[in-house]
Amino acid sequence: MAKSKLVFCCQTCGTLYPKWTGQCTGCNQWNTIAEETQTPIQSSRYQGYAGTEAQIACMADVTLQADIRLSSGSQELDRVLGGGIIMGSAILIGGDPGIGKSTILLQTIAHLSQNLKTLYVTGEESPQQVTLRARRLGLPEQQVWLLADTHVETILSHVKKEKPRVLVIDSIQTMHTSLLSSAPGSVGQVRESAMQLVTYAKQTETALFLIGHVTKEGSLAGPRVLEHMVDTVLYFEGEQDSAYRIIRAVKNRFGAVNELGIFAMTEKGLREVSHPSAIFLSRYAQPVSGSIITATKEGSRPLLVEVQALVDQSHAANPRRLSVGLDPQRLSMLLAVLHKHSGLSTHSMDVFLNVVGGLQITETAADLPILFAILSSFRNRHLPPDLLVFGELGLAGEIRPVPGGQERLKEAAKHGFKTAIVPQANVVKKEVDGMKIVPVQTLKEALDCFEAIC
Ligand code: TYD
Ligand code: MG
Repeated sequence: MAKSKLVFCCQTCGTLYPKWTGQCTGCNQWNTIAEETQTPIQSSRYQGYAGTEAQIACMADVTLQADIRLSSGSQELDRVLGGGIIMGSAILIGGDPGIGKSTILLQTIAHLSQNLKTLYVTGEESPQQVTLRARRLGLPEQQVWLLADTHVETILSHVKKEKPRVLVIDSIQTMHTSLLSSAPGSVGQVRESAMQLVTYAKQTETALFLIGHVTKEGSLAGPRVLEHMVDTVLYFEGEQDSAYRIIRAVKNRFGAVNELGIFAMTEKGLREVSHPSAIFLSRYAQPVSGSIITATKEGSRPLLVEVQALVDQSHAANPRRLSVGLDPQRLSMLLAVLHKHSGLSTHSMDVFLNVVGGLQITETAADLPILFAILSSFRNRHLPPDLLVFGELGLAGEIRPVPGGQERLKEAAKHGFKTAIVPQANVVKKEVDGMKIVPVQTLKEALDCFEAIC
């Protein structure tokens, strides 16, 4: 029996230390280092994904199986997965507690079970609780197999006997393996358990879904290494008090990243929203200042979203800069560009930004709409409700083009927008139905436009 060793391991990034310290030098976090016992692992336990000793092969001789993608039963989930579930792939789903991770996988597995053998391993809820939920949602239950266990070796022994084609682990943080003696949920346990499950999935071409918890800071609890081990990482976004749930692909070996799937949480489970464009817009009886609509293109589909700003006299020594759904660094940068190139100073003002509906905008096309919203609130003048704005702003005060201009404009035209202020290079040759397109090249031109229209 190999002798086990005491080590100290950072619970955030997995860095190992021979003794305890207060701060991790790997990730600079405080109080994340915990004691763990480590048993040396027999090297024979680790095998290649082929299951046997791997051989060198010429690329030309590698045979490929047809890339069969299974539909998950929801077009929105298929979209974030890159077109469907690939057998043998490992998919990690992360999100806040109560956001709907268990619900969406239960719905998916119930759909898949009509044609395939599926197994749902629950480490958090009892089989009764899972069944109760499935009944309430009216899901087919005939072919859904349940296992309430948290011991990876036991789970794998069942799985090897039953050979399900799709396996769900709810959740990876509750799993533990006998190879390590540390507590379930510790970095070592999570990593080792995931490794065993992923290796099994690759060897047997089983589709594997792992549910992962996120920490208060919003990253997946456990090591980042979990994200490297799997093929696809999906995150739930959006606020819990809103009815909408957004799933974003942050890593995908089989498809595009930043693809969004949009769902609504109803009393009958998660329903897909197939025409989501208008759900992020609020409708006002009277136009209000500080609000503007932009067309964002996260993933392959343009979405119309409302950006709101509030600029108010500050009474604090350090005025506040707060942004929800947008990068705060970007906000500071835009305010600096605005000051430098137009002389508008917000040094004594609090500036708040918000994207309606809990969506996160990561692309730079939101620069120009953010500026318009800030100006509108600053001047207390409202913008026309049928105006659309997008474009990136450079530090020299130039307006840069963004990808997918035509699709953005088309989407806006479909929803009745009449005017669009866009970067010069995004002006389309073909006319977009009934829409007046105003090209701008510099911040100054954009500001003149603002003065002219409101
Ligand atoms: P759940 O899938 O259990 O979340 P997670 O596994 O991510 O922790 O979702 C639970 C939440 O969803 C809970 O707050 C209730 C809500 N919910 C509904 O509103 N309708 C439903 O049909 C279901 C199943 C859940
Ligand atoms: Mg759950």
